[in-house]
Amino acid sequence: MKVTVVGAGAVGATCADNIARKELATELVLLDIKEGFAEGKAQDMMQTAALLGFDTRIVGSTNDYAKTAGSDVVVITSGIPRKPGMTREELIGTNAGIVKNVCQNILQHSPNAIIIIISNPMDTMTYLALTSTGLPKNRIIGMGGTLDSSRFKYQLSQHLGASPSDLNAVVIGGHGDTTMIPLISKATWNSAPVTDFLSKEQQDQIVNDTMVGGATLTKLIGTSAWYAPGAAGAALVEAIVRDEKKLFTCCVALDGEYGQKDICLGVPVIIGKNGWEKILDFKINEAEQAAFNKSAEAVRSMNNVLNTL
Ligand code: 2OP
Repeated sequence: MKVTVVGAGAVGATCADNIARKELATELVLLDIKEGFAEGKAQDMMQTAALLGFDTRIVGSTNDYAKTAGSDVVVITSGIPRKPGMTREELIGTNAGIVKNVCQNILQHSPNAIIIIISNPMDTMTYLALTSTGLPKNRIIGMGGTLDSSRFKYQLSQHLGASPSDLNAVVIGGHGDTTMIPLISKATWNSAPVTDFLSKEQQDQIVNDTMVGGATLTKLIGTSAWYAPGAAGAALVEAIVRDEKKLFTCCVALDGEYGQKDICLGVPVIIGKNGWEKILDFKINEAEQAAFNKSAEAVRSMNNVLNTL
């Protein structure tokens, strides 16, 4: 397996680090436009191989797409991250051109690659990747819900005193502070509904803290987070290269599912060697469907901005 990560910033490098540690690829290419940046990070990571005991070969490159040739999976993290006080949506003007260009370059050398989008605003960048490349929809996966669901489990674990890995919880909808929908009604603690253990106030707090999870970190750190976004990207790579058929919430093209079409939005999907292989119908309730429709409206108006760029 060959995997490429485009963008050697904090998210891209963390994603690559996770991929190498788990030996998800024989060859891993880290690419960046900044001279020497990806080469340096790749070398730094390779110098952990003897300590951590992995055999993945990491190659860094300054924008030489020929080095990415024949990649099975490509993770795109390129673009600018948000600063404190910024929304993910404010990045569209800069990041749209970058993501479109990266997709074109990647496909020239890896026409069969499955593409994972992390760049923000993630829902619109996923839609742009799909519409600008014309790839089969199953090969374009937006990472957002995978990260947001992990943040949701973290928030639940704090209130329940539970291990995050004992929790089952998903966030659907958009990857925006006001567009994501943590499905607390469906969250379980090893099969028991979490709502049995939490007051209404606690539930509201958990949902709210999950929704602003990224913004909270941006405020604390001074720039966008990277450990969880990078790990979420790597978890999707793992599910693809190992054909795991694992259930994640990802941003994918909808064609009538959850009442929406001509949009990419977060829904529960099965991830395996073909990319996203199936959308699951979680039978959301009326209020959740109304929130999903509202989320779709916001993402759709963001997608429309693409026509004005
Ligand atoms: C976040 O929520 C990077 O959008 C990402 O931290």
